[in-house]
Amino acid sequence: MAEIQTTTVSVAVQPEKTAEAPAVIPVDVDNIYTRDELLIHNKDGDLWLAIDGTVYDLTKFSEEHPGGQKILLGVAGTDASKKYRKYHGDNILQRYAKDYKIGTLKIDIPAKESKGLFSRFKRKK
Ligand code: HEM
Repeated sequence: MAEIQTTTVSVAVQPEKTAEAPAVIPVDVDNIYTRDELLIHNKDGDLWLAIDGTVYDLTKFSEEHPGGQKILLGVAGTDASKKYRKYHGDNILQRYAKDYKIGTLKIDIPAKESKGLFSRFKRKK
């Protein structure tokens, strides 16, 4: 009777790779929004506004805003800096900014002025 030979093959089982967190390099990237982008978010359930160049998403906060939701809806999607200053001191934003800031408002520079400060003094060829 023929003998059945068995060979043992040892397979090196690689230990399962542990799900290591990818190296996250913190970079301070700011979202920059144009006035047109800001304007889209002008309603209940989607309420953004800008104060002094910073864009805030106040969708959730508007429901608990001590000054009421209605007044925020009135300036939703716009630069509300002037109205904001009328009713609040600086300390309020310091407290809330980190929770609601989502980016920066893009500064619109009219094409005429964007040529550079000294462009008008440049010699014409
Ligand atoms: C990031 C944006 C805003 C935050 C965090 C904020 C927060 C607050 C807080 C904490 C208060 C209570 C003030 C206090 O207890 O002294 C308040 C009151 C008020 N807010 Fe705002 N607010 C914001 C934007 C605005 C804007 C844009 C307007 C107007 C268009 C407005 C109008 C008012 C009014 C009328 C009051 C009541 C003031 C009073 O009772 O004397 N708020 N807000």
